Amino acid sequence: MAAKIVPLEDLATLVSLCKRRGFVFQSSEIYGGLGSCWDYGPLGSQYKLNVKMAWWNAMTRRDDIVGLDAAILMHPTVWKASGHIDTFTDPLVDCKDCKNRFREDHGTKDDGTVACPKCGGTNVTEARNFNLMFKTFMGAVEGDSSEIFLRPETAQGIFVNFENAQTSARKKIPFGIAQIGKSFRNEITPGNFIFRTREFEQMEMQYFVEPSTADKFFEQWKEARMNFLLNLGLEKDRLKFSEHGPDALAHYAKAAFDVEYKFPFGWEELEGIHNRGDYDLSQHQEFSGKKLEYFDEANKKKYVPYVVETAIGCDRLSLALLCNAYREEHTTLDNGKEDKRVVLGLKPELAPYKAGILPLSKKEPLQNMSRKIQDDLNQHWLVNYDESGSIGKRYRRQDEVGTPFCITVDFESVDDQKVTIRHRDTMAQDRIPAEQIKSYMSDKFMNW
Ligand code: GAP
Repeated sequence: MAAKIVPLEDLATLVSLCKRRGFVFQSSEIYGGLGSCWDYGPLGSQYKLNVKMAWWNAMTRRDDIVGLDAAILMHPTVWKASGHIDTFTDPLVDCKDCKNRFREDHGTKDDGTVACPKCGGTNVTEARNFNLMFKTFMGAVEGDSSEIFLRPETAQGIFVNFENAQTSARKKIPFGIAQIGKSFRNEITPGNFIFRTREFEQMEMQYFVEPSTADKFFEQWKEARMNFLLNLGLEKDRLKFSEHGPDALAHYAKAAFDVEYKFPFGWEELEGIHNRGDYDLSQHQEFSGKKLEYFDEANKKKYVPYVVETAIGCDRLSLALLCNAYREEHTTLDNGKEDKRVVLGLKPELAPYKAGILPLSKKEPLQNMSRKIQDDLNQHWLVNYDESGSIGKRYRRQDEVGTPFCITVDFESVDDQKVTIRHRDTMAQDRIPAEQIKSYMSDKFMNW
């Protein structure tokens, strides 16, 4: 009988899988945890790296985009110039009844009144502007002169390196700079697991263009980013664009669209695509006194480029992909019992392990052959050797973490040098020569 497919219904189910299987743990858990900070475990760290590589390769394996890895700590004037010191604030409101602290816009009703999202009371304080940047001190002396910030976006590292990157890589406009790195925001209301956290990783690309072409490139990047997300396997009807109205535009933006994803807790921003105009380069020009203009040889004209930015949180994308991949397959067995198979239907490139190597017994010839297969495949991908428990349980363990293939080595394998390879999604099995495993898997990955 065909299985009944049940998608992820509540986030708690995924949080529990992530902890149990080593994807994500609460930060400093043995001390009771630290609010909205998370650690990626043995499988999660590999998974997150795969998400980053998918983005990095899509961005940088082309002629017109180069990479960068800028420092988290930057000259404090950067944040004055960028506008973050003056305007990177959230309106903070306290509920006088239940003492809950929340962002004013999170409690604003359609009629404009502000009600506490926790207790519903309207006995709340006036909003105060709260700067989201984390402060720290550089050097041994604490004081205003040594005050610096943890970056709240990776973008500024790109803007201040515009000239360095452009001249060293000898790029002509239009060209982009891509970067992956940590950002920090002292969010008032973080939450929903790794969706909104105070320490997170961003994957940003700033594309520098001649000002009159910015609208055209904005449209191109909107389309390219949507295609990237679809290619990673996110469901089309769980993705949509949402335009920022004039009131919601960030201080730097001329135009902005979010790509929203329908998480189990509702539609939320996944990625931002912004036309930042020449705001950032002009500001840095003014505050640093250094020219950040581009000279167009062909047309003999000088200008400050406009920037079309694409910005996505790696943690947020990792969460969307996990929510999207999770499914339960419910079947009624012949004996009337209910069976549940949990599968992470991740695209193979994202799966932490590309294969599980499962010897049917712990007998030495089977172990030796399995270890040899593991060593060979590890030259290309991370695979996992597992010899404990029944074969059925081992299959299920691999399904639950998204492993595309299980390779079983049985008693006959030692004689005929063939293995059984099982597909995660269909559970179909093929018997193939051990020496063909690599090419078999590569072929299937190409056409997944
Ligand atoms: N440079 C532009 C910029 O930073 P943003 O819309 O503030 O724009 C871009 O952030 C993306 O970074 C968001 O779409 C989201 O995916 C991610 N992001 C922002 N704040 C985050 C947080 N507190 N936790 C996790 N991800 C966050």
